[in-house]
Amino acid sequence: MAPTKAVVADDHLALPAGGKNTPLTNTIPISTAQTDIHGLEIWEGTLPIIDLGGLHGPCRSDTIKQLGHACQHYGGFMLKNHGISERLLNGIMSKAREFFHLPEEERMKLYSPDPTSLIRLATGFKDDNQNVFVSRESLKFHCHPVENYVNLWPTNPPSYREVVSEYCVAVKRAEITLLEAVFEGLGMERKSIDQILDNHGQYASLNYYPTCDKSNLGLTFGLRGHTDPTILTMLLPDEVPGLEILQDGDWVPVKPIPNTLIVHVGDVLQGLSNCRYKSLLHRVIVNSEKERLSIASYCYPSNDTQMGPPKELIDDDHPLIYKDYTYEEFYTTMWKQRLPDAARLDSFKVSAA
Ligand code: OGA
Ligand code: NI
Repeated sequence: MAPTKAVVADDHLALPAGGKNTPLTNTIPISTAQTDIHGLEIWEGTLPIIDLGGLHGPCRSDTIKQLGHACQHYGGFMLKNHGISERLLNGIMSKAREFFHLPEEERMKLYSPDPTSLIRLATGFKDDNQNVFVSRESLKFHCHPVENYVNLWPTNPPSYREVVSEYCVAVKRAEITLLEAVFEGLGMERKSIDQILDNHGQYASLNYYPTCDKSNLGLTFGLRGHTDPTILTMLLPDEVPGLEILQDGDWVPVKPIPNTLIVHVGDVLQGLSNCRYKSLLHRVIVNSEKERLSIASYCYPSNDTQMGPPKELIDDDHPLIYKDYTYEEFYTTMWKQRLPDAARLDSFKVSAA
């Protein structure tokens, strides 16, 4: 299969800081609801913890309910028991750290401002309009199926290709298990599930947030408030806090749990679910003491996938919100509009002019 040139995410799309004082245009409030869902554990009041292993045994239907509740009321969850070994989690994190500790001229060999590049380094930048720095440096690359892309990846640091390939394949496996369960929980038919999962893609980003000079802290973000233009994003954070999610109008820190991924609902899932699930607004703040790293795996459909909600999700109680559009139309519109959040979906609403 020829490599797809889907554009997925870029720093430039994350514009305002968001939050109470500067609300984003379309933020659909996600309220954290009290729940009697069997066995659901909530991490420090922020996000539910889901045990992916629960999908493989007698707890499958409870786990599917937990997933649905998490996607509907929180826009995301912490994922444990995902099947990726601790050795591999540590391995990818070390490789990413080694990469970002290479001399600048070595890293810059991969620099490209072109968002359609199959691999590119994106650097931090200053937004003069808003007078803020966005400090994330990231190495972004397509990675599914891995053999189509691995030859484009760096050979420095040593074993980068081996470790990153192994991680991409492992996280993809967890992603598929998860998506099958999320779609099943929504009530989607097998045909609709296959249509989305056939030929879908994966794009990864190794994210590096350098420490920030104390005098600049007030003006610097790691990433400004945004939602991801994905079905789901699977995020592996290191142990340094920094990720925040917007909950009930406040930015709330998500403290990392060792060996646990953080999963965000993306805009595509919001559209497919006919707004039953809302994409998660999140941002990254920086600190003056410790650098931070994270590894994001963005799952997106193939360019020609129809993205309107499947007909089985539409009834009198759930009237159609989004018309049919392809993923290609979605991201082309996204790049034109340069909106940071799920307002990107508004022009695909049935009610849109
Ligand atoms: C992203 C993102 C958060 C983080 O890559 O889209 O939001 O904690 N990352 O790095
Ligand atoms: Ni994000």
